[in-house]
Amino acid sequence: MQEKKFNKLPKHIGYIIDGNGRWAKSRGLPRSMGHSAGLKTLKKIIKLSFELGIRYVSIYAFSTENWNRPDSEIQGLIDLFKKYLKGNSFVKDYPNTKLNIMGDYTKFPKELVDAANKTIEMTKFETQFVLNLGINYSGKDEIVMAVNSIIKDGLTEVTRDVIDNYLYTKGQPEPDFIIRTSGEQRLSNFMMWQAAYSELYFPDTLWPDFNKKELYKALKEFEKRNRRFGSIKEEG
Ligand code: FPP
Repeated sequence: MQEKKFNKLPKHIGYIIDGNGRWAKSRGLPRSMGHSAGLKTLKKIIKLSFELGIRYVSIYAFSTENWNRPDSEIQGLIDLFKKYLKGNSFVKDYPNTKLNIMGDYTKFPKELVDAANKTIEMTKFETQFVLNLGINYSGKDEIVMAVNSIIKDGLTEVTRDVIDNYLYTKGQPEPDFIIRTSGEQRLSNFMMWQAAYSELYFPDTLWPDFNKKELYKALKEFEKRNRRFGSIKEEG
């Protein structure tokens, strides 16, 4: 059992992992090395988040706009996604964790789609932790997808709950804390519906340099935030 380090923790944390390219450039390295370093950081930070007891973690790893990057960079990222999802590595890295992919991952090469499907299948009965991995993800597209599915199902009127139930994050609490590294202060189409009340945190640190100390600093900041949801009292 972990000692209690924080009085209050997010239930669901989102990471917009930004700054890999700049990290590599500042060292005179190719961008692909920034992404490899970013993946190492990602594995550590996801593990730490789960160990702290944060049950839901969402990652923005590849947006629908990222297809505009050079082919070689896209291929490098696809290779990393494949490695990450292949075989038993996901299950070993994150025991008791369900993999949930946000985004139309069928647009990736077959080998990646197969690896993803296999891991989703292997982890589908896990209930302790959930990792939402955004690849070929767009928050606005997610809402459009939800609305189209609702229409297909013959509904003629919706509520917030109905829309919630058609999103990738169906059944999950909304992210109460979103961290975007590298000093950029935008959501860039990440969880556009779910982030309505999220606390946002924008450290200047480039993603590959984000570490345990930085995470704890972020969580200390979250502890101080007073989440009122438009009311005058903080939610318990
Ligand atoms: C943003 O940094 C990062 C990405 C678009 C890719 C993130 C991918 C990884 C960390 C690697 C693999 C992840 C998984 C889940 C296997 P950027 O390239 O936009 O950085 P820049 O703004 O400094 O150029």
